[in-house]
Amino acid sequence: MDKTEKIWLNGKLVDWADAKVHVLAHALNYGTGVFEGIRVYNTPKGPAIFRLKDHVRRLMDGCKMLGFDLVFDGKEYGFDDLMEAIKETVRANGDAVDYVKPCIFLSGEEVGLNPIGVPISMAITCVHMGAYLGPATDAGAKIVTSSWQRPDNLCGPAGAKVNGAYITSSLAKREAISHGASEAVMLNSVGHVAECTGENIFAYRHGRIITPNVAECILEGITRCSIIEVARDMGYQVDETALTRFELISSDEVWMTGTAAEIAPVTTIDERQIGDGKIGPVAKAIHARFHDIVTGKVPEYEDWLDYLN
Ligand SMILES: Cc1ncc(COP(=O)(O)O)c(C=O)c1O
Repeated sequence: MDKTEKIWLNGKLVDWADAKVHVLAHALNYGTGVFEGIRVYNTPKGPAIFRLKDHVRRLMDGCKMLGFDLVFDGKEYGFDDLMEAIKETVRANGDAVDYVKPCIFLSGEEVGLNPIGVPISMAITCVHMGAYLGPATDAGAKIVTSSWQRPDNLCGPAGAKVNGAYITSSLAKREAISHGASEAVMLNSVGHVAECTGENIFAYRHGRIITPNVAECILEGITRCSIIEVARDMGYQVDETALTRFELISSDEVWMTGTAAEIAPVTTIDERQIGDGKIGPVAKAIHARFHDIVTGKVPEYEDWLDYLN
């Protein structure tokens, strides 16, 4: 990750080094925040944010779930204000920005769990991220099944990106790296495949694409929704269904999807080769199409892009 110059904090663009909170901030101690990860792509019409409206909607849904009022420094923010604040921050940070992370969190100093009445803040940070999973995954990622379970809907709102809930992803990621893998896939409370630490998962098996449905306690990923639509438009059968570990490992192809990782083919799971151990033709074709869409080369999907200029 490369830093940028300005961070949007409660309505003002401040220098990166000045975007600070107190050590007793409620969110720092209890995880009371909601965030998003959003990609910016270069297109022939200049930089564009991919599916910004969907990210803002998910962010606001998460805030609603956590009971957050979107009032920062005395000003109330609605959908359009959040959209504009994100665009403004990207514009302020120049061409190198490829990833934006808005975060709405309880910034007030508090000891004790009660979140009611604790002051709230919003920060929008831009970075240059590049390839999230790194160059080692270019020829296909090696992943492991995590010993940590994907928290289900009784442990919190699985469909929202709640800061505190990411401890499970962080533990699973640490486990993956310590096993020499780049990602971990987590199972849910009934042992079905759920998702990876920051990505959804897809398989191509017996001539159809399968991906866990939202009832399997996954984040309803925006890249996941995009890939389902794109794959169907390309003529593939896509089924959102329960998926077992056996089905996943015996698939012809497996890939992960996420804003940060984009589309990342998987060639090894738990030291077992997937398909022929190479990136498969279905993942390759969908990836190529997705790349054309996000870089503004496919007019049918233009409304997924929010141009900055
Ligand atoms: C746990 C988890 N699953 C899936 C995803 C993929 O979601 P999206 O495609 O919206 O980035 C993410 C990333 O945001 C995530 O954190």
